[in-house]
Amino acid sequence: MKIYEVKTYDEMSRKAANIIAAQMVLKPNSVLGLATGSTPVGTYQNLIEANKKGDIDFSEITTINLDEYQGLDGDHDQSYRYFMNDNLFNHVNIRKECTYVPDGTIGDADEACKAHEEIIRTSGGIDLQLLGIGGNGHIAFNEPCDHFPAKTHVVTLTEETREANSRFFASIDDVPTHAYTMGIGSIMSAKKILLLANGAAKAQALYDTVYGPITPQVPASVLQLHPDVTIIADEAAMALIRKNR
Ligand code: PGA
Repeated sequence: MKIYEVKTYDEMSRKAANIIAAQMVLKPNSVLGLATGSTPVGTYQNLIEANKKGDIDFSEITTINLDEYQGLDGDHDQSYRYFMNDNLFNHVNIRKECTYVPDGTIGDADEACKAHEEIIRTSGGIDLQLLGIGGNGHIAFNEPCDHFPAKTHVVTLTEETREANSRFFASIDDVPTHAYTMGIGSIMSAKKILLLANGAAKAQALYDTVYGPITPQVPASVLQLHPDVTIIADEAAMALIRKNR
């Protein structure tokens, strides 16, 4: 694992965007694995600016997202499809038909998950997968559990997650109960992985990811087994790693 410590969220976002931009320049038809959440927003802003300046071109890029709420369509402002359109796709010269987010409108979980795996397979595989990390070490919607789920699958959202996300919905009853998420195997099959972490709330999870035992109780710890992982983290997220080095 290569670990870069940066001072601020902005610096993390610029560095991450530079790595993604380099990937796009070296391989203009790259398949990028993308993530939602607050962590990558700044990275997407930097990519939008680079695209506007003419430094990077999305016209041959394919994107594949990690996860989506079951039951939300892309017009719902809390769907991850909406998030991606709003934070990146609507502002760059990407072909929307080459952007894939698991389809939350497919009610049959098996069908939805198989379709997403098929997209990963037929794209030729993800060249660079961008990841955030949860305070409990989750990646995508792979929460701590007793095994590493291999493929895209349906998860039942914990009450804790639904409650945390309810601030974005009219009421907790409107928060979906299930989500589709790429599995650990789908994520690990990416050729390169770029994990971003900022803020003190991520410090323990980041430490466990890098130095802890490889365990599904800390899903991100599996990244120790991946041959090409880059981590960019700010000072607060790096606090425990720095202390224990
Ligand atoms: P965040 O979420 O970017 O909103 O902190 C990251 C995650 O839970 O994967």
